[in-house]
Amino acid sequence: MKGYLSVFLLLCGLVMAAVACKREAMPEGPSSPGTGTTPYILQIPSNLPPMEIPADNPLTEEGVALGRFLFYEKRLSGDNGMSCSSCHMQALGFADGKAVSKGIDSIAGNRSAMPLINLGYANFLFWDGRASSLEEQALEPVVNPIEMHDTWPNVMAKLQADPVYPALFTRAFGTEQIDSLLVAKALAQFIRTMISGNSPFDRFRRGEGLISPDAQVGFNLFQLEGGSPGQIIPVAGSTPVTGQGGADCFHCHTADAGLFTDGQFHNNGLDTVFPDPGRAGVTGDPANLGQFKAPTLRNIAVTAPYMHDGRFATLDDVLDHYNSGGHASATVDPFMKFTDPDMVLGLTPQKRQQIKAFLESLTDEEFLANPEFQDPGPPHL
Ligand code: HEC
Ligand code: HEC
Repeated sequence: MKGYLSVFLLLCGLVMAAVACKREAMPEGPSSPGTGTTPYILQIPSNLPPMEIPADNPLTEEGVALGRFLFYEKRLSGDNGMSCSSCHMQALGFADGKAVSKGIDSIAGNRSAMPLINLGYANFLFWDGRASSLEEQALEPVVNPIEMHDTWPNVMAKLQADPVYPALFTRAFGTEQIDSLLVAKALAQFIRTMISGNSPFDRFRRGEGLISPDAQVGFNLFQLEGGSPGQIIPVAGSTPVTGQGGADCFHCHTADAGLFTDGQFHNNGLDTVFPDPGRAGVTGDPANLGQFKAPTLRNIAVTAPYMHDGRFATLDDVLDHYNSGGHASATVDPFMKFTDPDMVLGLTPQKRQQIKAFLESLTDEEFLANPEFQDPGPPHL
């Protein structure tokens, strides 16, 4: 009994220490939603998991509405000419259709703007996962010299001087004192509402509709191990698997929870040397070289070009890459099992066409045209 009690106390201590550390890491700011706010009820399709909302930033109608104004607010940038939506466009799955994005000074970054889809489920943000919450992420683009290139004091002064924003902040957060953390919280709230779960594929999964027979076969291929049926396929550092003639995509773009990503970092064999270190740039660990966050495949037909540097213009190029097996390297993912020239994924043209049909069935027209995500015009009460 005594042993259990001390284990219990030890665990309590650890939990408290963890909470305390978390507190320290994030600067404290005004956090409670304003009095009189209305809880925002997220509509989550039944084939998607519940979303965890941080206790210190509950979703409110007022917070989401403010976040939407801010997402389209050009005064968040140094020349008042660029908003989040300049690089994250709704019709393109909130990506920008460019290989790499240019900021206000027309300096091109080396990474492609990411689609903003179902990010309320993400534990890591950015291609390298350097932010671990949407609140933390939202602070960055404003001050990033190759993006919006402003300073927070400057942006806060611009918003404070607006006739409407102070009242919108009071409504959402109970204070008219605008600060960067509140801007970030409002943006994070808005981004959490960007849920895509009503594509033809979703309706098919819920038994509400059909997708083409080709798309159905394509989904099955997506979910099956690669390699000829019965072939023994070695997996580095793990037990071998038996080939099933599939496309081997499900390992990293996990379909089960409906998110089409496992939220983890993988080197999917794009390169042998890594001009962009990816995850290793954050962890400093050479074992993470060339690893990037596995992106969702939702709305993938509208978010071209593909990969962290936008190197592939079309889904056919992407399938060429995976079908070729990709490049071997010290950090290539064990699930990239076909980098060895003796092993081939061997997707026939017909299978490729079926996989493409499935990927296209993930296009959610309702999400791409949802009026709730559109530019709300100048801030108003
Ligand atoms: C100049 C173009 C540009 C602007 C403006 C911009 N972004 Fe981005 N965004 C990017 C790029 C590029 C990335 C990927 C950067 C990286 O991984 O290093 C990104 C990544 C993100 C991500 C991470 C998505 C994920 O799956 O991890 C979020 C969220 C995001 N941006 C939100 C915003 C918000 C909110 C704003 C406005 C405050 C904004 N962006 C402004 C280009 C832009
Ligand atoms: C080993 C894990 C892994 C496997 C297996 C895998 N992927 Fe990926 N996929 C990734 C990662 C990681 C990225 C991002 C890589 C980068 O940008 O450097 C990615 C990117 C993509 C993209 C581009 C997404 C975007 O927003 O730019 C598509 C499309 C894609 N994968 C489809 C597939 C298909 C189809 C299969 C099966 C044939 C597959 N993937 C198998 C990990 C994987």
